[in-house]
Amino acid sequence: MSTPVTYDLDDEIAVITVDNPPVNALGHTTRAALKDCVDRFAADETARIAVICGAGRLFLGGADVSEFGKPPQDPWLPEICTLIEDCPKPVVASIHGAALGGGLEVALGCHYRLALPGTKLGLPEVSLGILPGAGGTQRAPRVVGTDAALEMITSGKPVAPEAARESGLIDRVGEGKGAEAARAEGVAYARELLAEGAAPRPVSGLPRPAAPADGWDTWEQNLRRKFPGQVAQMQATKAVKAATEMDLPDGLAEERRLFNELIDTPQREGLIHAFFIERKVARVPGLKDATPRDVQAIGVVGGGTMGSGIATAALLAGLPVTLVEMKPEAADKARATIESNLAGAVKRGKMSDAKRDAALATVTTTTDYGELKDADVIIEAVFESLDVKKDVFTQLDAVAKPGAVLATNTSYLDINEIAQATSRPADVIGLHFFSPAHVMKLLEVVVADVTGTDVTATAFALGKRLGKVSVRAGVCDGFIGNRMLSHYRSAADWMILHGASPYQIDRALEQFGFAMGPMKVADLAGIDIGYMTRQRKGKQTGVVYPQWADDLYGMDRLGRKTGRGFYIYDDESPKGREDPEVLDLIAKERAAQGVIPRDFTDDEIVERYMAAMVNEGARILEDGIALRPLDIDVVKLMGYGFPRYRGGPMKYADMTGIATIRDRLNAYEDGSGFWSPAALIDTLAAEGRNFESMNND
Ligand code: 3HC
Ligand code: NAI
Repeated sequence: MSTPVTYDLDDEIAVITVDNPPVNALGHTTRAALKDCVDRFAADETARIAVICGAGRLFLGGADVSEFGKPPQDPWLPEICTLIEDCPKPVVASIHGAALGGGLEVALGCHYRLALPGTKLGLPEVSLGILPGAGGTQRAPRVVGTDAALEMITSGKPVAPEAARESGLIDRVGEGKGAEAARAEGVAYARELLAEGAAPRPVSGLPRPAAPADGWDTWEQNLRRKFPGQVAQMQATKAVKAATEMDLPDGLAEERRLFNELIDTPQREGLIHAFFIERKVARVPGLKDATPRDVQAIGVVGGGTMGSGIATAALLAGLPVTLVEMKPEAADKARATIESNLAGAVKRGKMSDAKRDAALATVTTTTDYGELKDADVIIEAVFESLDVKKDVFTQLDAVAKPGAVLATNTSYLDINEIAQATSRPADVIGLHFFSPAHVMKLLEVVVADVTGTDVTATAFALGKRLGKVSVRAGVCDGFIGNRMLSHYRSAADWMILHGASPYQIDRALEQFGFAMGPMKVADLAGIDIGYMTRQRKGKQTGVVYPQWADDLYGMDRLGRKTGRGFYIYDDESPKGREDPEVLDLIAKERAAQGVIPRDFTDDEIVERYMAAMVNEGARILEDGIALRPLDIDVVKLMGYGFPRYRGGPMKYADMTGIATIRDRLNAYEDGSGFWSPAALIDTLAAEGRNFESMNND
């Protein structure tokens, strides 16, 4: 039977290789096999030193995340790390690709550590709502000092081998790339150590580390500011504190206790859900056998906010761009924006100066549609008007080469109608980027009625090349993300009309974990955007019409860009302060409609807002606009500031209980139909199922 960990001898050197594709995660079988190999080395009289390395792409990807929440099975990883550390003969970790979480903890159990260039060394557990639970919080501070360890553990960010060498996390940076080089370098290092007569060097032999330089209080205050509402960072800090106060065995026991507490939290469940769905989202039903078209060059029409950003994203991915604008000045402006975006990318270390210059040499900005003739994918980002877009697509039809994919970045409009403006509707698709398009990771791939499967596959392949997380959506007003946004914003408007202040709504939802409340979002996007949408849609039955927002538009209070919207933005309050005049406008509207305002608790605000969000998510599933609940969760997590540690709105519904959501909606229903539960919610609740049951392949 094949085993995920092999043991072989190179003279007196035992080589223990973990081979558990794709990422050498340390699941139960792998742990058991690793423990057997360490025991075998300890007992093997021919072997004087051991090298632990990984096969395939990387050293060790950490604990098997899918096991969390299930009953733990022996042997546990902490025991294996201690077993390695206690080995009477030296053990070397030879690391390539990545040593993450439990992977780095195994390396910290080893006596000597070598990493190849380009390796990621990190303890990312907090991003999964847990803490390093195999000795990382105890050994890392002893090896690199408390400040550096706290930084690694609470940020979850990996460090590069050179920096790790400097901090003492590793002993040496090797040469070469890949598993074979790691094995060879590890064996060579082991040979040197043997020649020197090197002994085991357990971390348990190092002195207890000191408290952080600025003290624990300062550290914890900073954490609360940086990660509001999140528990794992605070808990991990407690574990590191234990390292400064206890001997290693007691510290390890304390780490285990704190780790187990986190395993039981909803934040851990939400974050691990987010981890898996962000990967699963790419496996789109129906696309498995489709072959994407070849893409070598990109065309962009419209060089405003979005067009320039999309062009930048393509250039960052090494794709040449031809951008068409209406007037030469607008084309020049678009080029200047692209240049400044790329300068920003250089500043953030995403691109070298030489690469930036090379990318800029592949941009053409023009007013001539004819120059789009060689583009394989053309992305339109002109004004949000169906007539303007149809006109653009008619022009594209005339110039684009056969087989070119014609994409629109529309936020809301009917892509079926846009496709019909061409003689090749099967080549038309929506590529809905988010602003700033070269930064935001989300891409909604909006598949219209007759879009070719290969065109959809091309869109996903392009998304991957651009470094985006792509989600399949269907055509309706606003697709997945904006359709839901309109609905839960309406829930907020309903609460405002009935007595909640917009500021209380923002505060309650920010407390829940949203990056920004809906009124701050409206101010950021521009009050004019909501106004235009309402003009387009007209008054809808069952939906509260926010007359006060139209009034703000009429007063030219367009949000941040004019310094005043729902909030006032000035030197005194750059992040915005409440505006009593807005409350007067709302009071006027309540009086006009004869509404007697009542108080709302923060809990009711959150529950209503979330119930509305989930309800619309369910309708989006019923309509086939999203194929799976996970697609909705990814859109909200990646494009709409939904708190990652809650896993997304559909996960929230599962964790709250579908029957509870149904009951809340029924209790809220006021005869307007707005709060009435979607049929899917009734069905799932009646059958005792949850949204997760619809995520399966
Ligand atoms: N456990 C289980 N499955 C994992 C996994 C893990 N630790 N890491 C990755 N996978 C799975 C992914 O879900 C994916 O599965 P799929 O193909 O079925 O969708 C597959 O492995 C490949 O993963 P990626 O697509 O992410 O591969 P990449 O090459 O892009 O990235 C990686 C590799 C950098 C290792 C990345 O997968 C990663 O960051 N993984 C998580 C690492 C991590 O957080 N480790 C800590 C775990 S917690 C821990 O160790 C606790 C300990 O302290 C006790
Ligand atoms: P913008 O107003 O900044 O830019 C539009 C550009 O298109 C202008 O520079 C204009 O000169 C140009 N243009 C207009 N008609 C043209 C034509 N016929 N040929 C060539 N160029 C033409 O608008 P923005 O914000 O970039 O939005 C563009 C599209 O992207 C809209 O459909 C919008 O709904 C969508 N979108 C906007 C987002 C945002 O946050 N701004 C987010 C996601 C999508």
